[in-house]
Amino acid sequence: MHTLVLHTPKGGSGKSTIARELAVAAAASAGMQVAMADLDPQGTTTGWYQRREATAPVLVKLDPVRRAEALAEAGVGLLVVDTPPGQPAFIRDLLGWADVVLVPVRPTPDDLLAAAPIAASLASHSRWAFVLSQVPPRTRLLASALRQLAALGRVAPAQFTFRADFPAASISGQAAVEFTGKAAEEGAELWRYVQSILRGPDADTPQGKPGRSHGAKGRSGTGSGAGRAR
Ligand SMILES: Nc1ncnc2c1ncn2[C@@H]1O[C@H](COP(=O)(O)OP(=O)(O)O)[C@@H](O)[C@H]1O
Ligand SMILES: [Mg+2]
Repeated sequence: MHTLVLHTPKGGSGKSTIARELAVAAAASAGMQVAMADLDPQGTTTGWYQRREATAPVLVKLDPVRRAEALAEAGVGLLVVDTPPGQPAFIRDLLGWADVVLVPVRPTPDDLLAAAPIAASLASHSRWAFVLSQVPPRTRLLASALRQLAALGRVAPAQFTFRADFPAASISGQAAVEFTGKAAEEGAELWRYVQSILRGPDADTPQGKPGRSHGAKGRSGTGSGAGRAR
C-alpha cells in the first residue's frame, strides 16, 4: 500500500479538493482499492463523503502516528490522507511514514511566504512536491510563483486552475475527474504524476537538488503542464 498525504499549514490552499480528486481518480484506475482518511476536525472530506453515493473510495479512521498496516492487509492499494491546517503534533509522524507528500500552494505572496518553512520541514523526505492550486487564468503571479517554488523543491508538472467545476462537483460528493472538461483533465494529469512518482526510477532515493521536477527532468516549471501560463 502507498500513502499519499496532502499537507500544508495554510488553510484554504486546496488540500481537501486535491485529496478527493486524486482519490477518485485512483479508485477509477487499475481496479485499485483506495481509502481516504480525514484528519481535519472541520470534516471537509467527511462531509463530502457523506454526500457521496458511490462507495469508492472508502473513508477510514486513521491513527496518524502509526503506519496503517491493517489497511494494507485489508487490500487497500492507496491511502489518501487529508490533513488540517496548522502543524499538529502528529504531522511529523505522519510525514515520516507517508510515501508521497503533496503541498498545495496558491500563487499568491501569502502562500509563497509559507512555502520555505514547509520545504525545510520536508527536507529529509524522499518524495514530496509542491502543487500549484487555484491558479487564476492568465495571471502574472504564476511565473514568479513557479520560480520561487522551484528554488525550494520539486513542483508538480500539473496544476489545478481556479475552476468552479471543483466545488460544483463536491455538492453531490463527487469529484471533477468523474466528469469531462478541463478540471477533469487537471485531476487526471495530477494523478498520472503521482503514479509516476510512485513508480519513478528515483522513487527510493533521496530527493534531488532543489528545483528538480519529477517527470520534467530538471526543467522545473517548464515540464508538461507546469509553468504553462494560462
Ligand atoms: N481549483 C479550485 N478552483 C476553485 N475552487 C477551489 C479550488 N480548489 C479549492 N477550491 C475551493 O477553495 C476552498 C478551499 O479549498 P480546500 O480544498 O477546502 O482547501 P484546504 O483543504 O487546504 O483548506 C474550498 O471552498 C474549495 O471548494
Ligand atoms: Mg481541508
